[in-house]
Amino acid sequence: MKLIRTLSLAALGLPAAALAQQDVSYNEHIATIINKNCVVCHREGGIGPMQLENYDQVRPWAPLISLRVASREMPPYSYDHGIGIQDLKGDWRLSQEDIDTVVAWVEQGSPQGDPDIVPPAPDVPNPDAWNFEPEFGAPDLIIPSVAMDIPASGNDLWSKHFVESGLAADRCIKAVQVKPRGDAKAVVHHANSDIWAPDENGEYQQLGQLTEYAMGKWGELMPEGVCRTLPEASRIRWDIHMYPGGVGATAEGQVIRDNVVEIGLWFHDEDFMEREQPYKQDLRAYVMRSGYENGELILPPHGYTMTQGFHSFDHPVRIDSFQPHGHLRMNAASFEIFYPETGRTEQISQISHWSATWHHSHIYEPDVAPLVPTGAVLVIKQWYDNTANNPNNPDPDQWVYDGSRTGDEMSHAWIAITHLDEEGYQKLLAERAASQQRSLAASD
Ligand code: HEC
Repeated sequence: MKLIRTLSLAALGLPAAALAQQDVSYNEHIATIINKNCVVCHREGGIGPMQLENYDQVRPWAPLISLRVASREMPPYSYDHGIGIQDLKGDWRLSQEDIDTVVAWVEQGSPQGDPDIVPPAPDVPNPDAWNFEPEFGAPDLIIPSVAMDIPASGNDLWSKHFVESGLAADRCIKAVQVKPRGDAKAVVHHANSDIWAPDENGEYQQLGQLTEYAMGKWGELMPEGVCRTLPEASRIRWDIHMYPGGVGATAEGQVIRDNVVEIGLWFHDEDFMEREQPYKQDLRAYVMRSGYENGELILPPHGYTMTQGFHSFDHPVRIDSFQPHGHLRMNAASFEIFYPETGRTEQISQISHWSATWHHSHIYEPDVAPLVPTGAVLVIKQWYDNTANNPNNPDPDQWVYDGSRTGDEMSHAWIAITHLDEEGYQKLLAERAASQQRSLAASD
């Protein structure tokens, strides 16, 4: 009773039925996969264009589900298999086994199966609760966006504006979650928030990104023993993308009022810095400027462009997360580390089939997060396809330059980095070696 899964025949374009050794049914196999991975968005009031909450809703979509799942377009999480680090926190990707099961089910005519088997209930988090509440209680600080009215149908909308954090002193962030309030949860597609803080002249500068939200996202817990600072008197710049169609037919012709997105922040106590002397962690944009012509990013019509950036540090670091950034013509990004002493280059992450609709911060599990010695070089590459072959390209006849509008391009990556010293670096290396020893011993 097991699917053969040495390699995906579906991925080679061969009929999945060829590898199905068993009857696959909705009640027995498919409901579990869909309820766990899809219903969070594809439900009443969710942002998905249709509901997938039961057999009758799923059945008409089966052929398209098979296509989108086999091509890994759904769930929307682009991160390449088989390249670099695969242990990520909050990874939405389906296993190859689940993909093969869905494809085989559709090949078999998508049957419901034994009516006596009751599929497990969908796994939908309570959208009004803070996810870290059971662990840490209510947030220490809630920063709401400015309320906005949204028509229930129409085109995508964006809201960009500043709000004050109101902090009277620098604080170390322990955890953060972004949550649309009330009806906003049906229309907010994603929301980014940046931190701005005054420089020595009192002028506000962008310091880094606070966090990023997309429907179904859990939140972010900082690694142990680090301080990611939210500075005194900082401001948050919201960039909220709303998707009016998400409200569905129930709200046709209406306006959804007072849409607010909130950031919930949990801080370490005020003495944490003093007491623990934690390493500083920050989330910053690392730019790629090789590949630029005379300081300009230029994408010729029907052409290709690639950019590259090198960054090294005068102290050892740990890389905690990686999130490339570009717009409609960017089609992929990669992240490598070059070790000058050996000439070796290590692949860390690759994101092919980039989509500007979904921004994911790829958070490395702490026991595999890259530990980078002083002087090693982060090598970040992004490449762009301005031809008609790029399905996201709205107009391959255009010259495209740098800029923040969706039709312009950008070339940077958000990387969360813990800034270590030699002692902390050696300690983490030793801990990792010890845990590898233990798991080797356990598998003997
Ligand atoms: C994070 C939210 C989210 C999750 C999780 C998600 N989807 Fe989607 N899905 C969307 C949105 C939004 C769209 C429409 C825009 C697009 O295609 O990207 C969509 C589109 C689709 C489409 C295409 C519909 C059309 O008319 O073209 C299919 C099929 C689909 N999803 C199936 C799935 C399946 C199956 C899963 C789980 C394995 C899943 N989705 C998980 C949000 C989601």
